[in-house]
Amino acid sequence: MDTDTLDFPIKRVAAFDTAGTYRVFVGTRLLARIGQLLRRHIDRKRCAIITDTTVGRHFAGTLKKSLASAEFRPVLITVPVSEKSKTLKQAGAICDRMIDAGLDRQSFVVGLGGGMIGDLSGFVAAIYHRGIPHIQIPTTLLAMVDSSIGGKTGVDTRSGKNLIGAFHQPSLVIDDLDVLRTLPRREFNQGFAEVIKHAVIADAKMFRILKVVRASGLHRASETHALQSLIKRNIEIKSRIVATDERDRTGERALLNFGHTVGHAIERAGNYSKFLHGEAVSLGIVAACTISVAKAGLRSEQRDVIVSLLEQFGLPTRLPPKFPRRKILAAVMVDKKFEDGKIRFVVTPRIGAAHVATDVTVDEIRDAIAQL
Ligand SMILES: NC(=O)c1ccc[n+]([C@@H]2O[C@H](COP(=O)([O-])OP(=O)(O)OC[C@H]3O[C@@H](n4cnc5c(N)ncnc54)[C@H](O)[C@@H]3O)[C@@H](O)[C@H]2O)c1
Ligand SMILES: [Zn+2]
Repeated sequence: MDTDTLDFPIKRVAAFDTAGTYRVFVGTRLLARIGQLLRRHIDRKRCAIITDTTVGRHFAGTLKKSLASAEFRPVLITVPVSEKSKTLKQAGAICDRMIDAGLDRQSFVVGLGGGMIGDLSGFVAAIYHRGIPHIQIPTTLLAMVDSSIGGKTGVDTRSGKNLIGAFHQPSLVIDDLDVLRTLPRREFNQGFAEVIKHAVIADAKMFRILKVVRASGLHRASETHALQSLIKRNIEIKSRIVATDERDRTGERALLNFGHTVGHAIERAGNYSKFLHGEAVSLGIVAACTISVAKAGLRSEQRDVIVSLLEQFGLPTRLPPKFPRRKILAAVMVDKKFEDGKIRFVVTPRIGAAHVATDVTVDEIRDAIAQL
């Protein structure tokens, strides 16, 4: 064991996979050692590293060098930074590059980036030769605690996000906390919307821990251990929920959509430019709490505590006065099927628990949006 490992022990988290389990490594200084790490887990040589221009500029050199030093033969494929890269066209272009480079069914894909890259590279891995292994190296907090876990991959279309995709579990996920140092603060903070979501739906103890930490502290290197255990805990929560309903069929996985019905609608109403995903989810959580007070018996003091926790992490809890609220409700109606004027909606009766209510009305959603 080398000193790097001793300094920051890598925590291994068993996460669910169709074939059993896969490993998630959470630690520091992992990127430069990835070649050796992968050697122990994957008996293949050729791979495509898929990344975006910003992440690639920071980390692709180190990753490529490390892979080459362990006798892997990586081909680097870089796409422009932007959600607009998450398309079928881009996935096709990447596959063509991989074919041209001679990658075959014995190859594998390494996705290096945030959730956009994880979804795109995972989708490519799912369809290339009908499926080759996918290694995820998430570089945003949101991707570490959420999108890299669970096996949902996909691309956007003109009519909506993530409409085309596949379930394809990664073979390995490697979270190197050092990469978060270059992540802009706003991007870092948005990851906490998903962390707070996990706490509200499943972990009252983590909620209490979050109340005494600061995002700014966690962003500093000195707080690496605190961040490491927080990330590990979130991976455990998400993988536990996913394991009960891997293909999103029985309703258990739907609990992860807490705050997302209104959150997605806010993203759409803001043309995907006004709010980051986590920021829109933060507002969606506030709306879901308002509905939970009415429908699930959430105490209004608990709603207030959740709102202040979101604020503590620099997340929005009120809409700007001129934001087109009507567009939000219209987007909810496009997204969700109302039966007899009612939809299924994830609510929380108390911090640490959640369930699906089947009788939330349009008026209740309108009211909750009006209060934002
Ligand atoms: N599959 C799932 O279960 C799931 C869940 C949630 C979200 N998503 C998807 O995730 C995407 C959003 O992911 P995201 O928030 O990570 O955004 P992102 O991947 O778009 O990254 C955000 C920005 O941060 C930059 N960046 C990433 N890592 C960096 C680093 N370490 N240093 C400096 N800059 C860095 C990127 O270049 C980009 O500009 C969306 O496409 C969403 O649909 C998927
Ligand atoms: Zn989300």
